[in-house]
Amino acid sequence: MQSPTEADNQVRGILEMNAFDSKSASGQDDPALQRRLANVGAASVLFYRQPIEMVSALGAWMSAANGKRYLDCYNNVPCVGHSHPAVTAAVSKQISRLNTNTRYLVQVVDDYLEALKAKFPAELSNAVLTCSGSEANDLAMRIACKNTGHRGFIVTEAAYHGNTAYVTEVSPSSFKQGSIPDHVVTVPAPSRANYGDDIAEGFAMAVKKAISTLKIRGYGIAALLVDSIFSSDGVFGQPQGFLRAAVDIVHQAGGFYIADEVQPGFGRLGSAFWGFEYHQVLPDIVTMGKPMGNGFPMAGMVTRPEYLARFCEDVGYFNTFGGNPVSCAAGLAVLKVMEQEELQTNAHKIGQYLCSGLNSIAADHAAIGEVRGEGLFLGVDICQPDQPELADPAATVRLIDGLRDAGILAGAAGKHGSTLKLRPALCLSQAEADFFLDGFRAAARRL
Ligand SMILES: Cc1ncc(COP(=O)(O)O)c(C=O)c1O
Repeated sequence: MQSPTEADNQVRGILEMNAFDSKSASGQDDPALQRRLANVGAASVLFYRQPIEMVSALGAWMSAANGKRYLDCYNNVPCVGHSHPAVTAAVSKQISRLNTNTRYLVQVVDDYLEALKAKFPAELSNAVLTCSGSEANDLAMRIACKNTGHRGFIVTEAAYHGNTAYVTEVSPSSFKQGSIPDHVVTVPAPSRANYGDDIAEGFAMAVKKAISTLKIRGYGIAALLVDSIFSSDGVFGQPQGFLRAAVDIVHQAGGFYIADEVQPGFGRLGSAFWGFEYHQVLPDIVTMGKPMGNGFPMAGMVTRPEYLARFCEDVGYFNTFGGNPVSCAAGLAVLKVMEQEELQTNAHKIGQYLCSGLNSIAADHAAIGEVRGEGLFLGVDICQPDQPELADPAATVRLIDGLRDAGILAGAAGKHGSTLKLRPALCLSQAEADFFLDGFRAAARRL
């Protein structure tokens, strides 16, 4: 979609979408809100113009302090469902026995590492666990630089990869002012609006041009770093396999492909466990996080042993909390539950059901544009009814508020903040999908 006006053609800050604005009068009489603002100050980031106080959550649902229940279609961290009893039990058992760092040998850590590695191609046989996706990407970028001898990175226009100083430089959607640094070149998101019908070719050519720019600037290409479902850019997965051509070009130029699986990983796409697998392309490094511990903070990266060894010639890597036994117990429980409850298959099945329901609603409402995604990772463009090629960020906020009134949590994404982003728990049932579709239909009617 195009921006509503030329002046609005800038990347909308990811933390500002569907967010409380401390300068507005709305919600200012809420004591819980005032307490948070007093504690966190300018770094407060809260969803909704009138933030919600949450008190508990179970399965696909969250409960607010005022007693209202919400179907959680936003939070992709509790992938096997909020407060899953198997994860709770595993964490409780391990924390009451031993929690320490990875400088001791502890069986559950290697149990987890082996279970995790079984989910990857055999080449990616070394794993490093961290506490956040940001740390994982930070480490991945450093490994890419060391092994390629280059310093330049290519990311998408509205990418978000994390919050360390180094990773913020490759996260244009974090910038409130200023421009991206010289060693980073952005390419437009892999959409039909940007590249026409041949997205694979268009995206690959944009990456090729970015490589030339980085060469001219004297950095070379260290890595193409992309979120395999392009979540913050507006959710772009199709056509399946389009990434391959761009990755080939990066490899020919001596760069790495870092697959950021923090958002799409762990079965959410339904038809594949990872986004790179969905595109049938082999990354040099994969980073992951969010759903890994179902809410227990853990993240990590996998790569080829020789790449990690080369990096470790210069500096060691140790992370006090990364890979601690309790997080490994949580991670192990998540993998087991996913298998026992066949959640990847459910993501595929319910994702298709939601997609067809959304498409039939879109057919009746001019403001509802393209429905995209894979499995339980969906994006819905909200556009101007008389000019469907134009994005409508204001209507997207209205829709998100309407969904909230209907008891549904959802968020926004995309360069203009005009794509509704849906990532419910992988255990979403068909009845819950119907609840969502009814609420969405009612909210769309009121747009
Ligand atoms: C694609 C992507 N990569 C990395 C990160 C950073 O992860 P974390 O917040 O755990 O540091 C995020 C967080 O939103 C993300 O969406």
